[in-house]
Amino acid sequence: MEDIFDLRVFVQPLCQWYRDNKRSMPWRDEPTPYHVWVSEIMLQQTRIEAVKAYYSRFIQRLPDVEALADVPEEELLKLWEGLGYYNRAKNLKRAAMIMVERYEGKLPADYGLLLKLPGIGNYTAGAIASIAYGISAPAVDGNVMRVFMRCLDCREDIMRQAVRRKVERSVMAVIPKNCPGEFNQGIMELGETVCIPNGTPFCVECPLRHLCEGHLAGHESDLPVKKEKRARRIEERTVLLFEREGRVGLAKRGEQGLLAGMWEFPSIEGAKTPGELKEWLSVQGLHSFQIKELGCAKHIFSHVEWHMSGYLIEVSRDFPEDMIQGIVWAKRGELREKYAIPAAFWYFRDKLL
Ligand code: ADE
Repeated sequence: MEDIFDLRVFVQPLCQWYRDNKRSMPWRDEPTPYHVWVSEIMLQQTRIEAVKAYYSRFIQRLPDVEALADVPEEELLKLWEGLGYYNRAKNLKRAAMIMVERYEGKLPADYGLLLKLPGIGNYTAGAIASIAYGISAPAVDGNVMRVFMRCLDCREDIMRQAVRRKVERSVMAVIPKNCPGEFNQGIMELGETVCIPNGTPFCVECPLRHLCEGHLAGHESDLPVKKEKRARRIEERTVLLFEREGRVGLAKRGEQGLLAGMWEFPSIEGAKTPGELKEWLSVQGLHSFQIKELGCAKHIFSHVEWHMSGYLIEVSRDFPEDMIQGIVWAKRGELREKYAIPAAFWYFRDKLL
């Protein structure tokens, strides 16, 4: 006997509840494989409400796989600006190019082939296959893990891959052949609206409350068990907004690592006081300048936190260009309209607008 959870009793009530309660979302109006793919990638790590506007603008500008395969990277990053995890956007384009090359510009209707594409893992492959193609495939994300661990009163650690795989096999064993997409979305939707994380779920509204072992045992608020990840590293940085004749200095990040290829205000390590910054600037060969403090901002990435202090530094024409490699001088309006600048810097960018 294979090692799986028995989910049979939950299937019918869940599908019925989803049909009665599903929320309207732009990508649900016309769930083509392309629409489902783009929305699912955006929804990873970003809230539904925040995704809606990004999604509509993206689909308007890039309505199909061909358009995505052809879009210049700069423009793609601009469309993605603020969503974070910019590799997700780059992988979308890479996958679209493969689809044009191998699959006549379509997403393959095959879970295994979807999985081979850049940026598509088990969850996304399962979501596209089940929602857009009606293929029986599991789509197990954090919401789904939480709902089932509560339903089963199970204390296994949901951060472990083995537990996730076990839930995927368990879903596969019961997923209804006539509506796999409704089943998968039903669990996600329940996890987002009723069986919510962090605190007390709304069990009185839950279609599974009479079947939920965790609720019946009074354990719903202690589940799921999630072993803490390692604490994030904290990096102190001083962000430098150079202004020369009304234009602002931007530099492009390297092609590898965090925020690869994005535009940024140059920054240096450490939280410099105004005095320390003046000294640093003169050591760099900058002698005529005015500085103004812009305050502090914090940005949280998955593994690092940036704690930033920012300065506006007005410089004259004879700014030593080699001080900041590849610096470009952008008009203020272009900071919003032209360059893809990650959200980490928006606090400072907005001070200039
Ligand atoms: N969250 C992520 N994808 C979703 C979907 N397809 N339906 C409901 N919630 C979701």
